[in-house]
Amino acid sequence: MQVEDVQRVCVLGAGTMGAGIAQTCSVAGFSVAMRDLTEEFVEGGFQRMRDPLEKRVARGKMTQEEVEAILGRIEGFTSLEEALKGADVVIEAVFEEMGIKKELYGELDRLTPDEVIFASNTSSLSITEMAAVTGRSDRFVGMHFFNPAPVMKLVEVIRGSETSDETVQLAMELSRKLGKEPVEVKESAGFVVNRLLVPMLNEAFNLLLENVASPEDIDKAMKLGTNMPMGPFELADFTGLDVGLAVMEVLHRESGDPKFRPSPLLRQLVRAGRLGRKTGRGVYDYGGG
Ligand SMILES: NC(=O)c1ccc[n+]([C@@H]2O[C@H](COP(=O)([O-])OP(=O)(O)OC[C@H]3O[C@@H](n4cnc5c(N)ncnc54)[C@H](O)[C@@H]3O)[C@@H](O)[C@H]2O)c1
Repeated sequence: MQVEDVQRVCVLGAGTMGAGIAQTCSVAGFSVAMRDLTEEFVEGGFQRMRDPLEKRVARGKMTQEEVEAILGRIEGFTSLEEALKGADVVIEAVFEEMGIKKELYGELDRLTPDEVIFASNTSSLSITEMAAVTGRSDRFVGMHFFNPAPVMKLVEVIRGSETSDETVQLAMELSRKLGKEPVEVKESAGFVVNRLLVPMLNEAFNLLLENVASPEDIDKAMKLGTNMPMGPFELADFTGLDVGLAVMEVLHRESGDPKFRPSPLLRQLVRAGRLGRKTGRGVYDYGGG
């Protein structure tokens, strides 16, 4: 398949990333199906797109008609079968759990024609392992978008052990059509960005545990000392502490290297349900939970 043949994209998951990816695909002119498990989750996905778009309208950066056109190209579904109809590419952004993803890919493989390309937005799981439950490992690739997907420029295109050159090429070109800059990455735990970034966030929790400085001062130090636009705790709260912990666990398990051991404080906050902005409380309190 050539990138010109891609007309319709099916996005699985209407959460933080799924909604952002669906919006990105629609802005680029594709027709989009977005599927989640319940009507509420699908509706939540649309709301997640609508709120920042409406703010752009209020600031005069976009017209209401443009917002409606973007949202109008996206159809919401709860039925997997319906969502997949006519899709040329499936981009999966469901929970970061290998068991859930494998079960889903087994079903997808049965429900979609052979030529349909599968792309996972996983942050840390093995593309090769997910692809192995399908009969199309050569047409299976990672497309790792960053949060917020409509804004962030990078897509890491992940080559699994069986991914064909054509599929990597398609994912690179599709990323460009979506207005992104792709980099090709060989499969490896955490890929490039998370392998470097998440251990740094994890170490910030260790600093806090050792009372080396306050959260505010750790964030301030990294912002002013390295020009990071957000400090490590602001970023961890923004992306979700559970997401960070899951990445550390994969890095640790895959490498066996103690340098990737999750911080006990990070683990404890996740256990307490302090997942960051999305639960109203993480390292910082956002007044919501
Ligand atoms: N949050 C980030 O910063 C970030 C960045 C890059 C990649 N990712 C990856 O994107 C994926 C999704 O992460 P998220 O942060 O959007 O999670 P999220 O929890 O916000 O959303 C996941 C959504 O998937 C839905 N879901 C679960 N099983 C499903 C199924 N079988 N079919 C359809 N929908 C299903 C859930 O109901 C939920 O709405 C994960 O693989 C994660 O590693 C996350």
